[in-house]
Amino acid sequence: MNILFFGDIVGAAAAEAVIDAVPELRRAHAIDLTIANAENCAPNGLGMTAKQADRLVDAGVDVITGGNHSWDSADSVAALAHPRAVRPYNVADGVPGRGVVHVDVETAVGAEAVTVLNLADRASMAHVRATAGRYLHPFRSWAAAPRHGTVIVDYHGESVIEKQIFARAVDGEAAAVLGTHTHEPTIPLHLLPGGTGFVTDVGMTGPTGGVQGFAYEGFVDGLRTLGDPFAYALPTPRDGEIALGAVVLEVTGGRTTALRRLTEWP
Ligand SMILES: [Fe+2]
Ligand SMILES: [Fe+2]
Repeated sequence: MNILFFGDIVGAAAAEAVIDAVPELRRAHAIDLTIANAENCAPNGLGMTAKQADRLVDAGVDVITGGNHSWDSADSVAALAHPRAVRPYNVADGVPGRGVVHVDVETAVGAEAVTVLNLADRASMAHVRATAGRYLHPFRSWAAAPRHGTVIVDYHGESVIEKQIFARAVDGEAAAVLGTHTHEPTIPLHLLPGGTGFVTDVGMTGPTGGVQGFAYEGFVDGLRTLGDPFAYALPTPRDGEIALGAVVLEVTGGRTTALRRLTEWP
């Protein structure tokens, strides 16, 4: 089974680029399952819209994952009702959305069960109001999560070492642990001894030339004038060439046998 995974999509232009490219990427790489982190898809980069969730799925994205921005707007919370959308699992009951989704994937060798689980580290979730006081330990949540078939984890995290230790801890149980959130792609693509594919951060699919896909001027003004880069309202996604941050995994029997980066749009 071949799996295509997009790192954080930043802004509406990047979401449109993904919608346009998914059918051809699926064909070109014989993709059976597509997963996309859409926590920054909205025009202002905060969350996604329900319409974008529908359009991504219509274009061929099978599962949409999230992160700390999943609850940033009422529309983004509404989008979490989509049956193929997940947000971080490791939060208490009552937080909107679900953290795990099961899909039956049609492949050349028949239907295969896949579990997509979204987790987030404490640092990435530190300022999320919707989950304040309701954040749970990621590894304990992983251990309790309903998992069957091929298990793919979107580990949304700020901490490199936490992502790397988590991947080692689940080596042989998860087919892949794919890091998101920093928006910066990391170079090594790891195949751990037990068969878990691991990428510290897949990197964003979003506008280049700014900071994490956003216009940098407001951050810089805040830093230079007030000593606080976050003194002003968060800038909007930058208007720049859209980088493709994605990986393709080859998975057999719940283990990754190969993984590679995709950086070229079709
Ligand atoms: Fe993000
Ligand atoms: Fe994030």
